[in-house]
Amino acid sequence: MEIAGKVFVVTGAGNGIGREVALRLVAGGASVAGVDLSGPGLQETRTLADAGSRYSSHVVDITDRDAVEALPDAVAATHEQVDGIINVAGVIQKFVKVLDLPYPEIEKVMNVNFWGVVHMCKAFLPVLVARQEATIVNVASMGAYAPVPGQALYGASKAAVKLFTEALYAELLDTGVHVTVVFPGAISTGIAANSGVALAGDDSAGSGSYRTTSPVEAGRVIVQAIEKDRFRATIGPDAAAMDRLARLNPRYATTLIARKMSDLLGESTR
Ligand SMILES: NC(=O)c1ccc[n+]([C@@H]2O[C@H](COP(=O)([O-])OP(=O)(O)OC[C@H]3O[C@@H](n4cnc5c(N)ncnc54)[C@H](O)[C@@H]3O)[C@@H](O)[C@H]2O)c1
Repeated sequence: MEIAGKVFVVTGAGNGIGREVALRLVAGGASVAGVDLSGPGLQETRTLADAGSRYSSHVVDITDRDAVEALPDAVAATHEQVDGIINVAGVIQKFVKVLDLPYPEIEKVMNVNFWGVVHMCKAFLPVLVARQEATIVNVASMGAYAPVPGQALYGASKAAVKLFTEALYAELLDTGVHVTVVFPGAISTGIAANSGVALAGDDSAGSGSYRTTSPVEAGRVIVQAIEKDRFRATIGPDAAAMDRLARLNPRYATTLIARKMSDLLGESTR
């Protein structure tokens, strides 16, 4: 799908990967409706985008179904049309095992990561299928196929996004709506702090000795996936390698990650 002249709704546009996607879309000549919980984050994105009326901010909690259902009209009032939704907003869980994970934390992660995506797709599908060409991009995670100890619910929420998105692809095959699922590896954003999760030594996901990919690169991959109507895209060498390994030998992949990431739980998993 060509980017220039199109209108995209980007959730999570107030920080990290979503912001980079929004900036890249605007730079490519598109208009963007940025959606986020964070008003100041959206304001910062607006300043960076410097795109005048081609950028609008919408402070919305994507777990709030009624608020999301009001979005298509709010976006149309500013931009007249919607050609695509890019669901980037998400949170991680506290780095604790399921045994110790309280229900409010479980519900929060599922509500934002899974239900937030469902709300957005349900709200915008009627608008998108009516267009000659449109796109839906849902950001899952490498955690959808490579389980990280201490992130069981996060991984499960992202696996749900993966399957939901692939099913949408199947259901929309005979329409003009392209559907893409994206699997980032570790990206250097403030997701841990933004999720209210303490991470030993640093507040950015995948910090320390683990090599991360920049959010700018993540934005580039996602926008390229839109331009090339990709079925799926991985971001970073870690996501690409685990994508292959998890299919080749899922037990080995699971054990390898558990051992490599055991420091996140502050203990050995051997
Ligand atoms: N950073 C990584 O290492 C990594 C890896 C794999 C997948 N991802 C996924 O990429 C996406 C973006 O992550 P990021 O690293 O850019 O994080 P981030 O914290 O930098 O940005 C996420 C944005 O989502 C917003 N948000 C959170 N809950 C919301 C809600 N209920 N309603 C509206 N907005 C909400 C936050 O305010 C924030 O601006 C997430 O879905 C995340 O799971 C990130």
